[in-house]
Amino acid sequence: MKTVLTLILCAVSTAGLTQTLPDAVTDDLYAPVDLAEAELGQLLFYDAILSGNRTVSCASCHHPDFATADGVSLSIGDGGIGLGPDRRVDPDNPPEERIPRNAPALFNLGAKEFTVMFHDGRLEADPSHPSGLRSPMDADMATGFASVLSAQTMFPVLSRDEMAGSFRENDVALAVRQGRIGGQGGAWDLLSRRVADVPDYAARFRAVYPHIDGPDDIGFTDISNALAVFMAWEWRSDTSPFDAHLRGAPLTGPARDGMELFYGPAGCSVCHSGPFQTDHRFHAMGVPQIGPGKSATFEDHHRDEGRFRVTGNSADLYAFRTPSLRNVAKTGPWGHAGAHTDLTQFVRDHLDPVASLARYDRSQVIWPAFEAADFAVLDDPEEIGAIAQAVRHTPVRLNDTEIASIVAFLNSLTDPAALTGRLGIPAAVPSGLPLP
Ligand code: HEC
Ligand code: HEC
Repeated sequence: MKTVLTLILCAVSTAGLTQTLPDAVTDDLYAPVDLAEAELGQLLFYDAILSGNRTVSCASCHHPDFATADGVSLSIGDGGIGLGPDRRVDPDNPPEERIPRNAPALFNLGAKEFTVMFHDGRLEADPSHPSGLRSPMDADMATGFASVLSAQTMFPVLSRDEMAGSFRENDVALAVRQGRIGGQGGAWDLLSRRVADVPDYAARFRAVYPHIDGPDDIGFTDISNALAVFMAWEWRSDTSPFDAHLRGAPLTGPARDGMELFYGPAGCSVCHSGPFQTDHRFHAMGVPQIGPGKSATFEDHHRDEGRFRVTGNSADLYAFRTPSLRNVAKTGPWGHAGAHTDLTQFVRDHLDPVASLARYDRSQVIWPAFEAADFAVLDDPEEIGAIAQAVRHTPVRLNDTEIASIVAFLNSLTDPAALTGRLGIPAAVPSGLPLP
């Protein structure tokens, strides 16, 4: 039996592959996890206490029912009601501005190789900085994070349209508006005091962190460290059929054909490389831009120039981070602005980005609050020209059967255990606020 299996394996690993397959994922790729810390983070992740108006939790946009994202093109945070594609703008409290990018999935972010966050990588590990990080906050950034993932968590709570809400409505948003972020009375401190005032949280923080003797010692870095450990533990994903294959089981049928294309002539693994199908780098792939775009307060446009906004380097125009493809069949809509709602169509368009920009079908967008202006970029030949010009990817021609095989391979990256999560959704959270 053993010999037969080895023979099959040899056939799989040599036929058609011009790039080698990644090694199987092992425990040492991940930082160790303290389970009590993860359990504390689980409660915080689902608790709307971290939002200014106590209405939005991390899970409002990163929910296990939607593969740790939210199932819509562009998220609605503060000012929204409901979950996933049913989420609607609250007519009595509409958001002041909309969120410009698609909520990414959170799989494997506890793996040590994930040191760059966000679609444009604006948060990055950098040992040469005093805080160990490069971020939009720079000098104002707090220190004491256990990981980049923990530092990431400091941002959504400050964003008016994600979690903070309007300065007219609550103390946290007012502090943000007045530029009071760190330090006593700053936005992070106000949120920490809220959490510390809940006796169940105070007791749990004391039990988990040796440096915490009483509620006054709870800082936002403790909150964010717990959240990070929870995400790392909950959504580690390395038990998909593809992982089983890397550990010795055969992958058969179209998924195997697709794998051979992916790691061979289709060239996908040039960028989607390594154990998690990402090089963690930035590439302009001409993915359609919909929604409000990313602009500064004084600007008036709907563009999102991606990595260029971080580096100012024209080689980075319209470049976005290569996403990991773990569970990708479940994480739609796809693309940094969620413009695609069909995975096969995404792959077809991705093979020839420039040609596909012109034929993009906008009727597919899933976002309840869409406005005509959200297609401003796609309606402007100059804007489309600029996105197309940035693309350096040579078109790859595949037939429909080959595209279907690639999609079958992408489905072999679906990992039911990770989609369910290890701790799951808590029955209730210590603040007593409703779950999303
Ligand atoms: C209103 C929706 C919304 C809420 C609420 C929200 N997020 Fe996000 N999250 C997003 C969007 C959109 C992005 C991508 C932003 C970008 O790249 O510019 C993101 C990015 C992230 C990332 C980066 C992932 C990566 O691979 O780059 C992490 C981690 C994350 N969120 C965790 C959290 C945590 C923890 C919370 C709660 C404290 C939270 N989010 C609350 C929408 C949301
Ligand atoms: C030159 C680098 C590069 C190559 C080659 C490449 N990709 Fe991508 N891929 C990216 C980048 C960058 C993105 C994100 C683009 C964006 O959102 O603007 C992406 C996005 C994706 C997504 C959407 C993921 C999500 O969560 O939204 C899928 C699926 C995907 N690629 C599959 C493939 C497949 C299959 C191939 C081979 C046929 C391939 N890619 C080839 C760089 C590449």
